[in-house]
This record gives sequence, structure tokens and C-alpha cells, in this order.
Amino acid sequence: MGAKGGLQARIFAGLLPGLARGHARLSWAWRQRLLAGLRGTVLEIGPGTGVNLEAYPQGVRWLGLEPNPYLHPGLERALESRGFPGQVLLGQAEAIPLEAESVDAVVSTLVLCSVADPRRALAEVLRVLRPGGRLLFLEHVAAPRGTPLRALQDLVVPVWRALGDGCHPNRETLRLIQEAGFARVEGEAFRLPLPVVAPHVAGVAWKG
Ligand SMILES: C[S@@+](CC[C@H](N)C(=O)[O-])C[C@H]1O[C@@H](n2cnc3c(N)ncnc32)[C@H](O)[C@@H]1O
Repeated sequence: MGAKGGLQARIFAGLLPGLARGHARLSWAWRQRLLAGLRGTVLEIGPGTGVNLEAYPQGVRWLGLEPNPYLHPGLERALESRGFPGQVLLGQAEAIPLEAESVDAVVSTLVLCSVADPRRALAEVLRVLRPGGRLLFLEHVAAPRGTPLRALQDLVVPVWRALGDGCHPNRETLRLIQEAGFARVEGEAFRLPLPVVAPHVAGVAWKG
């Protein structure tokens, strides 16, 4: 499991800067709060354009695992201008190319909606975290079952996935994190003024 290349990946890389900036404007306070206390070696899965780099404290060693090769040049530039020691890696969260227990924290913002196999990705996150390490997440999630919004999310899955590079608008990501084997999970639900993907959750999952 390595690069996600091809025409779709190239088009998505062209659209992502605008989409990521728009989302980050709406969610910046959440992102800042989530990332403010990071220290040590941090792996960010699916960093996209590197929109979170501004929110990291100085001093972290940042590793970014991004499967879309067309996003790598921009990520390298963003990393250089932020002045962190770090590296952009090619690969997918379902097969993280790092040793077991080698990172202090993993960051995932708007990524677990898109990975093809979120259970495998979370197992990999647990593998690479050192004991006591944390997964910090901010994800758009499924609306509660039985609501009109959930019915809409379920309906648009095929189109949304095709246009959104594999993104699932109706993924129950907090439940997946709770079932993944972390020692403790704390998540806070909130909404952003967005069509279809308004419900979000942000939080921390600790490895025991
Ligand atoms: C919606 S973008 C979010 C980008 C950024 N994290 C943000 O908050 O703006 C989804 C990102 O996840 C990446 N991605 C998709 N599938 C992935 C996988 N299996 N493993 C790691 N990253 C993945 C995409 O290439 C893209 O960079």
C-alpha cells in the first residue's frame, strides 16, 4: 500500500488547497486547541496541503504520511517554511512505514473518513504509538441514525466518494476509534456550517 496516483489524485491535489483553507478557517480554534500541547515525534496521517503545520508548537519532529504524490511538493515547501525538522513520507495509514512504538503522537484531521480500511489504519496507529502515546483526531462524522441528515449522507455516498477522493460522509468514526483498542478515548461533538458533513468530532485517544 503506497501511492494513490492517477488522474483522480491529480485533480484532488488541485482542489484540496481551496477546500482545506475553507475548512481550516471554520475549524481553526479546534485545530489549535488539539495540537497546542504536542511534543516529541509526531506522525500526521494524510496531511494534505500541510494546513495544520501552523498550529504545531515549535520543537516537534514532524513526519507526514501522504499517499497522494501530487501533494508532496507543497508539503515539502510548507515544512521548510515552518522550520520544523521533519519528513514527508509516501504511503497509506493502513500500512504505516515506521517501526512499532516509534512516535509520541499521531494526528488525523479529516482523514479517517477517506481511508479505505479505517480499522486497519487505527491498528497501525496503535502499533506505531509508544505506550502512553496519543491519537489526536478531528473528523467529520455520520449524523445520528434515523435523522434526515443521516439519510442524506447515506444517499450521497457513491457521488461523495467519487468526488471527494474516497471520502465517506456517513462514517461512524468515533465508534471505530472507541472499538480500536485504545486505553481511553475522549471525543467532543460539534457542528460546522457545512452542507452534508456538518457533524464533527474532535478528541484524544490514549494508547495504554
Ligand atoms: C480531506 S483531506 C484532509 C487533509 C488535511 N488533513 C486537512 O485537515 O485539511 C484527506 C487527506 O487524506 C489523505 N488520505 C486518503 N487516504 C489515505 C490513506 N489511506 N492514508 C493516509 N492518508 C490518506 C488524502 O490524500 C488527503 O491528503
